[in-house]
Amino acid sequence: MLDRVLQTIDSRRHQSLSALTQFLSIPSISTKPEHQPDMRRAAQWLADQFAFGFLDVNVMPTGGHPVVVAKNKHVPGRPTVLLYGHYDVQPPEPLEEWISPPFEPTVRDNAIYARGAADDKGQVWSHVEAILAWQAHGGLPVNLTVLIEGEEEIGSENLEKFVAKHRDALRADIAVISDTDQFARGIPSITCGLRGLVYMEVFLTGPSHDLHSGLYGGAVPNPANVLAELLAGLHDSQGRVTIPHFYDDVAEISQQERQMWRSLPFDEKAFAADLKLSSLYGEEGFTTLERIWSRPTCDINGLTAGYQGHGAKTVIGAKASAKVSMRLVPNQNPEKIAAAFEKALRDRCPSNIRIEFANHGLAPAALVPVDSPAMRLAQEAVETGFGAKPVLVRGGGSIPVVGLLKKVLGVDTLLVGFGLPGDRIHSPNERFDLDCLHNGSRTAAVLYERLSHLPKKD
Ligand code: BES
Ligand code: MN
Ligand code: MN
Repeated sequence: MLDRVLQTIDSRRHQSLSALTQFLSIPSISTKPEHQPDMRRAAQWLADQFAFGFLDVNVMPTGGHPVVVAKNKHVPGRPTVLLYGHYDVQPPEPLEEWISPPFEPTVRDNAIYARGAADDKGQVWSHVEAILAWQAHGGLPVNLTVLIEGEEEIGSENLEKFVAKHRDALRADIAVISDTDQFARGIPSITCGLRGLVYMEVFLTGPSHDLHSGLYGGAVPNPANVLAELLAGLHDSQGRVTIPHFYDDVAEISQQERQMWRSLPFDEKAFAADLKLSSLYGEEGFTTLERIWSRPTCDINGLTAGYQGHGAKTVIGAKASAKVSMRLVPNQNPEKIAAAFEKALRDRCPSNIRIEFANHGLAPAALVPVDSPAMRLAQEAVETGFGAKPVLVRGGGSIPVVGLLKKVLGVDTLLVGFGLPGDRIHSPNERFDLDCLHNGSRTAAVLYERLSHLPKKD
């Protein structure tokens, strides 16, 4: 039966691409309130695609954007797979950098260009295509629960409550997520670890109102100057983060992993050249892959101070603020790191400047067991789908649901990603390679077959 499913997938490349084009045309930008109707439209569009064969498809409300949940006909005795993905996308700005508009999907160089192409609509679509092909041939060989949310890009804030509330309906033997990338073209991968995230914003207030920088400059504390000093002080000259206790709980990389990563064909020069950088940056004593996959970081993600308009204005702004994200590695506690960040800046801030904080989201790092039956089945599926043995990698990004599924449902996740490193996710000209879309569908189809052999938990 698998052969016939794969043939169906091969014969539907054109239809698959045109359906994905529709999905990508909906500007489902979760962070922008004015796109709320588009969020509902994207969720409903996706739910409609599952209409064939699924007994049960629902667009379900949460405290925020809705979640799409679909289930096939339950067959007792079969293992249950939970497929997770997200239909929300990042804002497309800066718009002028896009060669074709972000929500007018366009095919060039054997790839589809649009916001969300690889992150994550295209990868979700690979699965939907595989699911529909199985349904056209008598049904999937596993019990499948699909959970596609609309708030991943804003931290999955409402998902924990949702998962806890629907714990019984979401129970599964294994979760599958395709929302990561492969090591390189021709080197498919399975991701066995992701970094976590603490996203903070810091607000400084000085004088009661903006001041003439000549009449007051040099005599009053300037929040912009103070902010610059606080932020510059977050790293030392070795590229290490200076927040006290930041590294306390960091899990060291094992020798075995270190060796494995060093044997991967990663070219630091090409990596820099691709970004038009003359050299790279990072914590001393670690390779680039180690820095991205296994070391915690602290980066300014947004900076607001003084006059931001065209030309010059001689002014000392009353306020200054910054958005700072910290990527976490296994064993670091997000709450503890958030508190350490706050304390370090409070302690360093002069007393004549008011300092306040907001927390925009926490997610722990995730590790996936590598010696599990599910992992072996996934490796076989990727090898069949992409025609090469996958390597084990980690990812520098974060997917909050991985920790949540483990915590709330006790379920491990397989991170089987179909993207490529050059897909420019979160950047202008995001793309998804059409062979990745197709081989991704094939991999998903094989994966559902292989996972039907997974021992059932009870
Ligand atoms: N799909 C990405 C995460 C990713 C991409 C991990 C490639 C590994 C390889 C996801 O959509 C994402 O961008 N997550 C956010 C999470 C945050 C908003 C909580 C991130 O990492 O910044
Ligand atoms: Mn994603
Ligand atoms: Mn993303």
